[in-house]
Amino acid sequence: MNQRIPQRAQWASRLGFILAASGSAIGLGNIWKFPYVVGQNGGSAFVLVYLAAIVLVGVPIMMAEFLLGREGQRDAIGTFSRLAGPRSPWCLVGWVGVTAAFILFSFYAVVAGWSFDYVFKSLGGRISGQSPAQIKAIFGTLLDSPGQMIIWQALFVMATAGIVSRGIRGGIERCSKILMPTLFALLFYLFIHGIRSDGASQALAFLFSSDFSLLTPKVILEAVGHAFFTLSLGAGVMITYGSYLDRRANLFSLAVKVSFLDTLVALMAGMAIFPVVFSAGLDPAAGPGLVFQTIPIVFAQAPFGQLLSVLFFLLLAFAALSSSISMLEVAVAWLVDEKQWSRIRSTWLLSLLAFLLGIPSALSFNVLKSTPFLGSPTFFDFCDKLISSYLLPLGGLAVAIYCGWFLKRTATQQQEAICCPSRWVYPCWHILIRYIAPLALTFVFIQQSGLING
Ligand code: PFF
Repeated sequence: MNQRIPQRAQWASRLGFILAASGSAIGLGNIWKFPYVVGQNGGSAFVLVYLAAIVLVGVPIMMAEFLLGREGQRDAIGTFSRLAGPRSPWCLVGWVGVTAAFILFSFYAVVAGWSFDYVFKSLGGRISGQSPAQIKAIFGTLLDSPGQMIIWQALFVMATAGIVSRGIRGGIERCSKILMPTLFALLFYLFIHGIRSDGASQALAFLFSSDFSLLTPKVILEAVGHAFFTLSLGAGVMITYGSYLDRRANLFSLAVKVSFLDTLVALMAGMAIFPVVFSAGLDPAAGPGLVFQTIPIVFAQAPFGQLLSVLFFLLLAFAALSSSISMLEVAVAWLVDEKQWSRIRSTWLLSLLAFLLGIPSALSFNVLKSTPFLGSPTFFDFCDKLISSYLLPLGGLAVAIYCGWFLKRTATQQQEAICCPSRWVYPCWHILIRYIAPLALTFVFIQQSGLING
């Protein structure tokens, strides 16, 4: 194969890569979704399975995605076409990833836009001192205002595009180096505040004392599915980010570091949120409204409540932004690598399209609230289900099968020497990626897609 390989961007440093990849992993899934799914699934039993799933399914698949990207040196679709052949059906896996990342970006921006709105509401003092009923009404009013939601969504999409258009080193890596440390500092402050409040011991018990009677098959599969979502797997993100890695990078160590940071942030977010929820006597299983209703209710009454709520919503906004840049990058890399478009043109065109696609998602909370879409209650629910229940588990399953069974053994063996210096890592990874991860993901897929009821 005598194809000319154009000079490709690379991360400036390992730390930059770790911050960018963990920026993708740490998102609304950690700070918005993790606490409420833990709340709804009975706490600690869920957390335990979630941790096991990170180790047994998440880390191996993340290593596989890094490996594919680094071998392919292209976007997600180009990687499969280079490794498996341009006409191979495996290229479909790349297409699934690019499509999933793009659709995800379109509706993620809607929820992320709410966090922008709440930063400004908190700064303007519109949260602190309000009664619980008023705070519920504030969220209700936002959901009922399509114009306002679409403006915040547009601003969020533009912020994401502004970063991605500047490229890997100058945009994504540089911003991750600012966003992530700030995010860790904000979270640390809120975590300390959480563990010093009255509800800390109740929160600790809720998150960490194990009651195995709560482990139903549904809870187990929900935990595996969430572990997968939170690590940004199955959407081509880690393939694309891996393609900017140099050949000497130790993929095992990188995957462990990224997964560790992601898990740490989810647990710390739980410990920042649940103590204050418990000490205010509110319900930990409040569902998706936990972050936008329950938390502001707590902060409204707390000393330094305004400061806490500004910090909390900034944290949420930063986490969302560092994830959305990775979603947009997957699609941009495809246009840049496969169609030779300029990065700036690709970024702004795709952002405009994602923004337009996101509008019916924003309208799903008001104008289109009672309009079902293809079997789902709203367009937003349809997109969410399509991505979280079908495309991501399917993409991850395909990556595991391809890496475990079809990637040429010599290529894998070569990687063994380069990426997993420790002797036991490669055999363990091989078993997990060949058997355990595909099995686990098949069950998740079957359960989440509703093919069986468990
Ligand atoms: N990991 C992100 C979160 O926890 O919010 C969500 C996500 C980002 C999923 C990127 C998939 C993806 F490709």
